Amino acid sequence: MQGVLFDLDGVITDTAKFHFKAWSRLAKEKLGVTLPASFESDLKGISRIDSMNRILKFAKMENKYSADEVDAMAQYKNELYLKEIGKLTQTDIFPGIENLLDELAVNKVKLSVASASKNAPFILEKLGLREQFDAIADPAKVAHGKPAPDIFLEAAAKIDVDPTKCVGIEDAKAGVEAIKSAGAVAVGVGDSNDLKEADSVVASTEELTYSVLEQAFRK
Ligand code: BG6
Ligand code: MG
Repeated sequence: MQGVLFDLDGVITDTAKFHFKAWSRLAKEKLGVTLPASFESDLKGISRIDSMNRILKFAKMENKYSADEVDAMAQYKNELYLKEIGKLTQTDIFPGIENLLDELAVNKVKLSVASASKNAPFILEKLGLREQFDAIADPAKVAHGKPAPDIFLEAAAKIDVDPTKCVGIEDAKAGVEAIKSAGAVAVGVGDSNDLKEADSVVASTEELTYSVLEQAFRK
């Protein structure tokens, strides 16, 4: 294992609740609909614009707005979301992650972020983790969102490690699929029924250690 490719939302910190809060407010204010709770997990790993389109579809308004109007709504959601994540601090890092990053650094494993979020650099800054990563892949630069492999391929390229020498860590089904399509080894965090395609699954980030990743890689 020469590189580890980290998803951010749901692996390093819990932002799903903030995404859901912002999407719910947008849906209520601009579309007059209430999002069901299932949207919190359904939108995990899904890009901002794809999430917006899923919400429009749910509201049965997919043909009602121009592309510019849809963009403006997605931007409004992001403004609401930024207010929430502006409050993040080091205490919001998931258990076990800081220790894992230290262990990987000691073992000279390169670390790259493969998040669908354009806010990833800001979130890492708020958590005080920006310096721990060798690279952050820019989702604006890739053609296809997860489950396509693009962001993981870009994350591996940015640390100059072949994807087959990398382990990817994901909490979302679409993300696990993306890791596998990129040719890397997938470690899932969460429910093993949801993340069946992963090579290995742990129930929580506390279980993520260098040796767990290395074992998944050698499996
Ligand atoms: C993913 C989240 O990491 O990033 C999704 O799981 C989110 O819920 C996506 O929509 C895009 O994030 P952002 O911050 O660019 O709107
Ligand atoms: Mg995630």
